[in-house]
Amino acid sequence: MCGIVGYIGKNQAAPIILGGLEKLEYRGYDSAGMAIISEDGKLTYEKSVGRLKVLDELTHGGSLLPGHAGIGHTRWATHGVPSNENAHPHFNEAETIAVVHNGIIENYIQLRDKLTKKGYKFHSETDTEVLAHMLDRYYKGNPLETITRVMHRVEGSYALGIIFADHPDEIYAVRKDSPLVVGRNEEGCFIASDVPAMLKHTRTVYYVENQEIACLKADELHFYSIDEEELEKQPTEIDWDANAAEKGGYEHFMLKEMYEQPKAIRETLIPQNNPRIRSNDIVIEELNMSDEEIKAIRKIHIVACGSAYHAGMSGKYVIEGLARIPVEVDLASEFRYRDPIIEEGALVIVISQSGETADTKEALHLSQSKGFPVLGIVNVVGSAIAREADKVMYTWAGPEIAVATTKAYSAQLIALYLLAMKFARVRGTVTDEYFKELLEDIQRLPDQVEMLLESRKRIQRFANRYIGAKDVFYIGRGADYATALESALKLKEISYVHSEAYAAGELKHGTISLIEEGTLVTALATQEALYQKTVSNMVEVKSRGAFVLAVTNEGNKDIEKAADYVIHIPTTNQWMANSLAIVPMQLFAYYVALGKGCDIDKPRNLAKSVTVE
Ligand code: M6R
Repeated sequence: MCGIVGYIGKNQAAPIILGGLEKLEYRGYDSAGMAIISEDGKLTYEKSVGRLKVLDELTHGGSLLPGHAGIGHTRWATHGVPSNENAHPHFNEAETIAVVHNGIIENYIQLRDKLTKKGYKFHSETDTEVLAHMLDRYYKGNPLETITRVMHRVEGSYALGIIFADHPDEIYAVRKDSPLVVGRNEEGCFIASDVPAMLKHTRTVYYVENQEIACLKADELHFYSIDEEELEKQPTEIDWDANAAEKGGYEHFMLKEMYEQPKAIRETLIPQNNPRIRSNDIVIEELNMSDEEIKAIRKIHIVACGSAYHAGMSGKYVIEGLARIPVEVDLASEFRYRDPIIEEGALVIVISQSGETADTKEALHLSQSKGFPVLGIVNVVGSAIAREADKVMYTWAGPEIAVATTKAYSAQLIALYLLAMKFARVRGTVTDEYFKELLEDIQRLPDQVEMLLESRKRIQRFANRYIGAKDVFYIGRGADYATALESALKLKEISYVHSEAYAAGELKHGTISLIEEGTLVTALATQEALYQKTVSNMVEVKSRGAFVLAVTNEGNKDIEKAADYVIHIPTTNQWMANSLAIVPMQLFAYYVALGKGCDIDKPRNLAKSVTVE
């Protein structure tokens, strides 16, 4: 989680590094630091606890650290509390080698013990500091050789930026299982954990593969293998709009991204260069499966974390409902350690916005090691999961910056609906007429989401009443249960209000004892076949004092008897209602958090990409 940035070139490095770190702050934001090599080969640095703006102020926008080469870091603490000592960069004792790190060194305790016995002194609680001392231990003037020696000895994941004071014209970068991109323009070279950090300066980027090393000079770029052999690498031209990663007048990225949902849905349905809806049919070329192969699927495993897992839960209902293929949905952190039984004829799907999530990536590797090719539903182009999955179906939501996902989640739902419809069509489990209706409905979703977003003032007024809420419950049956899970996560992660989701029928098996006078219970009731059952559950909680908010389909007027407040969603089929019901729930979470004055885009303790398990 953490973000790393580096620059070497004709310009002052520190302001460029600060600018890059600002774009990576979503990855971690409890402390920050940077180290710069000055013209005369002196290594200077600054670190600070708190948000990046503290470092910015401390260094007067970087001007107090002059020099044309440097590395920077924004931290999400894994080893040791946020403090100046634990903030990166970390140094050897002589402060002539500096390193910034994203990842976890798993054998750091053994390495630290060995180094301590050799007289090395540690000043932080981090795993990263061992790297600085190991670099020092092996350094005889050749950075490349030293780095490869260290790589052979450390276990775990890392993306590193490294500078050596006696090589002021170079910076080094290396990665294993943590993301790293290198970029270049006429004025210099860049490293970063993610593309937005360098987009202001260049669109020409190189994706560094596992155990590759990059050596950057002001006007040269070299890549090496762990065996120190020079590699030829082709650049990738980034074609997305740089504004996509800016707030564009919205108060928060989350609000902007909620408003980008109609576009994200449209792009995922009809990607510009390869529409997935063509001639009244669904074409998913990247699936690369013949009709025979689709007919032969006996089971689908969906594996993901957080909201992507909730999208997978929705996927289960729609795939089982339409295509009649059994679907098992797993949290990646559980799947990877439970030796899952994957049988002949199974299709494994992993879902990830970032394409970096450590547990999801391991679930992918595990499935592959059992001989099962994996389909990745991924948003970040060129990310680790996108590169390592056997097939990739991109969600075209564009860069998502807010820690709480909204548009990427909505695009994941669309990808799953498309797969369900495709499978159903090929396997003959839906009639031509019903398929046509589904095709019409799915294409109506962007406009319907837009309509729901228009009701934001009303939702804000309602949310303002719950700024002081202690507990909020979400209930739903069938596919609504999946939306309940996602709604509860949205609220708790950004507003810190305790919220839980329950399958509505499960309430009276214990949870109902938590209902007190005025407790907010939100009932998702979009599944017509289960509607009356959910209404009964609403009556049960209302009669015990709950304030009931209902989210239901247009035309369900009678629900008003069981609810205190009703939000209607436009008409669609039962499988796609999740895409609509989630919108007011996202807005509700946003406005509760706004009312409480929370840091919405960067909630406490969280980071956008969870690259550690
Ligand atoms: O990048 P991924 O989709 O793999 O991330 C998975 C979860 O970490 C993510 O959905 C997380 O739960 C979000 N903060 C939810 O808003």
